[in-house]
Amino acid sequence: MVADVVIEEISYAAVNAAREIFDTTLGSGYVERSGFVRLITSRHGVALRATDTNGSTVGVVAGECLDLDALVRSVPEDQAQAVRVALGTSCAEPVGLVRSVAVRPDVQHHGIGTQLVSAAITALRQRGANTLVSLGWADDRGCHIAGVLLALAFQQRGVFDDFWFADSHQRGYRCPSCGGPCRCQAHLFVGSIPAALDQLPVASMRIEGSRARR
Ligand SMILES: CC(C)(COP(=O)(O)OP(=O)(O)OC[C@H]1O[C@@H](n2cnc3c(N)ncnc32)[C@H](O)[C@@H]1OP(=O)(O)O)[C@@H](O)C(=O)NCCC(=O)NCCS
Repeated sequence: MVADVVIEEISYAAVNAAREIFDTTLGSGYVERSGFVRLITSRHGVALRATDTNGSTVGVVAGECLDLDALVRSVPEDQAQAVRVALGTSCAEPVGLVRSVAVRPDVQHHGIGTQLVSAAITALRQRGANTLVSLGWADDRGCHIAGVLLALAFQQRGVFDDFWFADSHQRGYRCPSCGGPCRCQAHLFVGSIPAALDQLPVASMRIEGSRARR
């Protein structure tokens, strides 16, 4: 059954509920509060939540529209060059980065992740994105978000070993899968803006840098 949820922008009041889901699924402290709040307040940021019929937060997605240099600066420093090479020159800027997606474990596999990423793509397009990029976390069970992204016509562009190893060591977060420092891979996906969204009016914008999150 597909879950009946409402997708809405995250207000400041809902930040803690959203971060709780990130902490549970991606590792405590992985998504930093300050960076997340910045996405909520920035006109280039996207922060959406899915709420169930009781109004509880059951899923979250964070994203950002930025230029290629800022995207590369936003990944763990030791991985930046490899990501730049894998992206090549084919990404039309600004790039819509789908940064972190998480669904409460008890309601996963009911289409909520797909609805969140679809809504994030629309929001990123509204903020000017001309290409879509996502770095998916892959542990020994595979890349969790791959099915969702491939179903939304993303293509896989690269695989990076130990992507968060140095970052998790430096920032002190633990991976929910392998502990710490994290030995998981990142899978790089690139997507096009769906034709139906191509006609959206896009405001002129200045792009700023940031840090990427899985
Ligand atoms: C990855 C994640 C966000 C996906 O969210 P989700 O709500 O489970 O996503 P969906 O339900 O839309 O899709 C997941 C799978 O369920 C399937 N599915 C969707 N609706 C379904 C339904 N009604 N019945 C049965 N299966 C369904 C999808 O086909 C998909 O299968 P696939 O992965 O084999 O292709 C979620 O599993 C999660 O939070 N994982 C932990 C954190 C994480 O890894 N985040 C991604 C970091 S990049």
